[in-house]
Amino acid sequence: MPRIAIIPGDGVGPEIIEAVLPVLEAASDKHGIPLELKFYEAGDLTKERRGAALPSDTFEGVRKADATLMVAIGETAREVILPLRQKLDLYVNLRPAKSYPVPNAVQGFHVTIVRENTEGLYVRAGWSSEYAALDLRVITRHGSERIARFGYRYAKENGLSRVYVVHKANVLRGCQLFREVCHRIAEEEGFEYREMYVDAAAMRLAMDRPFDLIITTNMFGDILADLAAAYIGGLGMYPSGNIGEDNAIFEPVHGTAPDIAGKGIANPMATILSAAMMFRWLGFVRVADDIERAVWKACEMGYTTPDVGGKMRAREVGNKILELLSSSNHKDV
Ligand code: IPM
Ligand code: MG
Repeated sequence: MPRIAIIPGDGVGPEIIEAVLPVLEAASDKHGIPLELKFYEAGDLTKERRGAALPSDTFEGVRKADATLMVAIGETAREVILPLRQKLDLYVNLRPAKSYPVPNAVQGFHVTIVRENTEGLYVRAGWSSEYAALDLRVITRHGSERIARFGYRYAKENGLSRVYVVHKANVLRGCQLFREVCHRIAEEEGFEYREMYVDAAAMRLAMDRPFDLIITTNMFGDILADLAAAYIGGLGMYPSGNIGEDNAIFEPVHGTAPDIAGKGIANPMATILSAAMMFRWLGFVRVADDIERAVWKACEMGYTTPDVGGKMRAREVGNKILELLSSSNHKDV
């Protein structure tokens, strides 16, 4: 029985989890995959109450679970998601930006960002004084190899051929190493090596999108992912996975949305699609396909929240997706 840790977090997190849990349960019932769900706390309120944004029982719960579904962490995100990524060595940040049929998405947009998730500018080593500050950017051969390997293999498994390595090797030493390593891995994995500078890639992402998949370093991936979100209807539609060798945390790309927190109108689809990614990673491919189909159908029917043109509340969207899931006959596991 898959053991799943759930972290609702701050802001819209708890109301999104309320809308998403019934969908998770319906999917697991329908496909006969009982889940063991355990809830953990993390984030701003946890820090206020317990003095730590990521208490050790939460860390241990995530470490021992087969996978984790987390929603959003507020001001303390840095103290929660960054140590989880680094200590659990979740070196891949997989961000498939695929448009669903909502009016504010560019139809047919499908670019997957494979972002290195443990090093780069996120090592948070540096120094600062009143006059200057320094952030170290660490790029290692090992880190570059494994992210490139993951990216090309993922592309192969998913029939994505136009794979670009995105860097800034005309300026940065780390990117020169990254590029050299990625070039070799591309050849080993049987891909034509293609590359682009990150500034040009940002423009091309907005223009003609010559890529199916981008392999890039940590901060570049962070920025390009939010740009990609603009083409799929916004962050409310964007799922992600922080993936390591034997552990993974799935989370929507969005944050706590303090402007709408408590109103019940936050879009639960990014979290539902993250749950689908989680099922896929756990090996329950048909459950994942089934959830994604139900979300697609809900979008077609206009069962959506206001950020993507609808009028429904998060819980109503969750209930509609649950109904679509329960009434469709894709039961084959
Ligand atoms: C993301 C977020 C995080 C990041 C923040 C909250 C630390 O922007 O997951 O993209 O920069 O990685
Ligand atoms: Mg980000």
